Amino acid sequence: MGNGTEATKIPNNRSQIDQWKSIMFLYDSALKEINTKIEILNSEFVHIYGHTPIEHIKSRLKTPNSIVKKLKRAGHDVTIQNMVEKLNDIAGIRIICSYTQDIYQIADMIARQSDVTILHVKDYIRNPKPNGYKSYHMVVTIPIYLSQGPAETKVEIQIRTVAMDFWASLEHKIYYKFEGNAPASLQAELKACAAVVDMLDDKMFSLNQMIVSLGEEQKE
Ligand code: GTP
Ligand code: MG
Repeated sequence: MGNGTEATKIPNNRSQIDQWKSIMFLYDSALKEINTKIEILNSEFVHIYGHTPIEHIKSRLKTPNSIVKKLKRAGHDVTIQNMVEKLNDIAGIRIICSYTQDIYQIADMIARQSDVTILHVKDYIRNPKPNGYKSYHMVVTIPIYLSQGPAETKVEIQIRTVAMDFWASLEHKIYYKFEGNAPASLQAELKACAAVVDMLDDKMFSLNQMIVSLGEEQKE
């Protein structure tokens, strides 16, 4: 792997290319594994709670370019070892749910799987970021079974509602457009929007509760 100081980009020679390919293969396999787990949980959820909690799932592998940028930004040498050790989001999955309650149920269902190890959780729903960002983050590992044996592979899972996702994508766009220095008025507007997102999520949830209980009354 070299001493890191000479390594300026990933990968830079034949053995590193091979190593890069096998590592990216692991992350790609981990995405597939987690995706399948989540699809199965979504189908099972219907039987338990009577609705599909997941609107959609997005997954992506971090590009070599953003891996390099992120390592440099954090002041790390650009090496394969650092990329594996320091970055949690090379394999990333975003689960978009209908209701906030579903987020916690999905997170619990994932956490209870015996082959999933939770490295850490950040609950930006109970503790939103100062800018108003809300989402539930988990970094987990799952074993990928190779001919040589299992390789524990990290996946970052973000779970949020449709409304939170809408907010986060707009905030992301604004953040990049102004390179992190958006005018204060825009930041205040965004924060106000985050409060509207909360209200919408609450209203949609109680509306759905009403619909469910009306449906049950009609069955009686
Ligand atoms: P990075 O922010 O990725 O360096 O990692 P971290 O250790 O700070 O983890 P955190 O859980 O805070 O953020 C992980 C990911 O969540 C980010 O890469 C983004 O995709 C998303 N995220 C975190 N904060 C924000 C935010 O304020 N706005 C938006 N739009 N997305 C965010
Ligand atoms: Mg961050």
